[in-house]
Amino acid sequence: MENHFSVFNMPKVELHIHLDASIRPETILYFARKKQMQSLSCENLETLQKHVVCSSPGNLTEFLSKFHIYMPAVVGDREAVKRIAYEFVEMKAREGLVYVEVRYNPHLFANCNVHPIQWNQKEGDLTPEEVVQLVNAGLKEGERDFNIKARSILCCLRHMPDWSPEIIELCKKYHNDTVVAIDLAGDEGLRSETFPGHLKAYEEAVRCGIHRTVHAGEAGPPSVVREAVDMLKAERIGHGYHTLQDPALYERLLKMDMHFEMCPWSSYITGACDSDFTKHPLIQLKKDRANYSLNNDGPLPLGVSLEKDYKIAKSFMGFSEEDFMRMNINAARSCFLPDDEKNNLLELLYKAYRRRDF
Ligand code: NI
Repeated sequence: MENHFSVFNMPKVELHIHLDASIRPETILYFARKKQMQSLSCENLETLQKHVVCSSPGNLTEFLSKFHIYMPAVVGDREAVKRIAYEFVEMKAREGLVYVEVRYNPHLFANCNVHPIQWNQKEGDLTPEEVVQLVNAGLKEGERDFNIKARSILCCLRHMPDWSPEIIELCKKYHNDTVVAIDLAGDEGLRSETFPGHLKAYEEAVRCGIHRTVHAGEAGPPSVVREAVDMLKAERIGHGYHTLQDPALYERLLKMDMHFEMCPWSSYITGACDSDFTKHPLIQLKKDRANYSLNNDGPLPLGVSLEKDYKIAKSFMGFSEEDFMRMNINAARSCFLPDDEKNNLLELLYKAYRRRDF
């Protein structure tokens, strides 16, 4: 597979990217037409992209509203779910990735996203478990065809604590059969009312040896990060930009070697960080030689690929080739693969980078 990356043209690792935000626009149009969806099927690629891409900074809610436009085209469609997973692996191989962890909430691809609480499954409906099986199949076929390793993370959603018991059961059932971890995503403002349901799922994850990451400190304050680390036992923090507002917490996480999944362009579009990239928290993390990775988060609504995040790091944050190497080694070190596979991944990178002194 040809590597189209211009900034850091070496093997890379990505740990924070959402499957439902990584669908090819062509694929959305195909399934919108198959379902004869009036609203989407008459669009062309250009107008579709105009509707679903956030081109200027707004907020996280605006960003998430884009999903409601295009997800109905693929929801509940078995062919679509498998194809999206397969095409995702192809896209990541083209970017020169050797390992990727892709995350998603299975319920959002099943036939239950309209009235989730009242969901009564009808015969023939696509269930969350079948979604996981289809994604697994698509990722495995992609691995075979494009020579890249792909694993998945199942997301709980902050506003849907009722789904979390099923998410953790799916994590257990498909543990290391493509699924490697649990995540918690969504509006960080919705905590106290919904937290107990998620906490129970994370306690079960700890008990069963399922790896844990949590979206925290993206739009929310450092207290959400503290809660993720101390209560949910997160091993990685999704975004975590606002951790730096609490120097004692930041210092503690540095000492713990906590991994931060950084997504610069995403943080610009969602308004999570100052729109001036030269003031981005990632610069402090780099200075402190913290443990972090560079990720895209969601190329469809963001309208850019992972290459954009590397370009920003190079142009505005002073990243050198060596910084990119160290960062990718840290990503590999903090990935959720079993130890033997993780060591193989690290060896692959050391060989490609022709050094191991990071
Ligand atoms: Ni995310």
